[in-house]
Amino acid sequence: MTIKRLLHPIGPALPILMIIAAGPPAIQAQDAADFFRSNCTSCHTIGGGRLTGPDLKNVTQRKDRAWLIQFMQSPQAMIDRGDAYALQIKQESRDVIMPVISGMSPARAETLLTLIDAESKLEKSQFAGLQISDRPFTEQDVQQGMAIFMGHRKLANGGPPCVECHTVAGAGGFGGGRLGPDLSKAYERLQGRKSMGAWLYSPATPTMNLTFKNTALKANEEILPLLALFESTAQKGVEDDRAGTSAFFATGFLAAVACLGLFAVIWKARFRAVRDPLVETSARKVLGGR
Ligand code: HEC
Ligand code: HEC
Repeated sequence: MTIKRLLHPIGPALPILMIIAAGPPAIQAQDAADFFRSNCTSCHTIGGGRLTGPDLKNVTQRKDRAWLIQFMQSPQAMIDRGDAYALQIKQESRDVIMPVISGMSPARAETLLTLIDAESKLEKSQFAGLQISDRPFTEQDVQQGMAIFMGHRKLANGGPPCVECHTVAGAGGFGGGRLGPDLSKAYERLQGRKSMGAWLYSPATPTMNLTFKNTALKANEEILPLLALFESTAQKGVEDDRAGTSAFFATGFLAAVACLGLFAVIWKARFRAVRDPLVETSARKVLGGR
């Protein structure tokens, strides 16, 4: 059924209906999928294995809906209360606690669980996550990663190069843009290969989400080499900020010295005539004041 056909008979009443209920089922399902994609896929897959959080496949068979709905409203509170199951899944997640997701109401949680149930039944869910090779990174991957970062290699889906907004150790010169953070250590912050890969595939922060929503990075062709780059910069343990800043200051300093040198040469002759008597006068004053 198309959305148009669905809307037609209730068109004028739609705003009211949207207030009464969350909308007709088809719209609700699409809405849940969109919500899941932008808010959950950075930490959860459905049938693709654990990321930061557990794989949500068949989660409603592990725990009852009422509990899950409550947990999704306030994960921290359930854990603070000492709930045994909450403590267990927290421990399995290396003590990372699920954040409060903005816009999460009991009704929203209900539609998300319905979505997760439906997706769990599929052979392969659209949220099985990023299928990316786990072969070891090579030096060539690192180089490709840098080429992608710098925009020397164009992104297949047309996204902008990272260097427009980010810098990374080894980017050279003055580094890149400053709108986004220095990514030299991002591999650690985003918890390594699998987690950061999923993050890059579907970035959960506002600017990144907006930038790559319709221009997702390619798994093995782009994300893998970028991960190789970020792993290598994190290992080297230098943030480019310092390098960039000192390059900036060094250049500024050299320029200043060059200017001073130039001025010295130009003004030397002219100043001497004025300066000599001045120095003499003030020297006399100082001595005379004693
Ligand atoms: C920043 C990572 C993160 C995000 C984003 C996130 N979760 Fe979680 N989620 C977790 C972690 C970690 C756990 C395990 C419990 C804990 O440690 O808090 C968890 C647990 C769960 C559980 C219980 C899993 C089980 O095995 O019983 C459900 C259900 C769940 N999350 C749903 C969601 C949904 C739906 C969204 C999006 C609206 C979401 N989560 C977003 C990290 C996240
Ligand atoms: C239009 C500017 C822009 C472009 C282009 C861009 N980013 Fe970002 N990025 C940001 C901003 C701003 C943030 C901070 C969070 C946010 O607002 O999204 C960010 C955050 C990140 C983070 C999270 C860093 C952390 O420590 O949490 C990663 C990783 C990242 N970007 C990777 C990339 C990669 C890889 C590319 C290139 C493929 C890229 N970004 C291109 C603006 C950009």
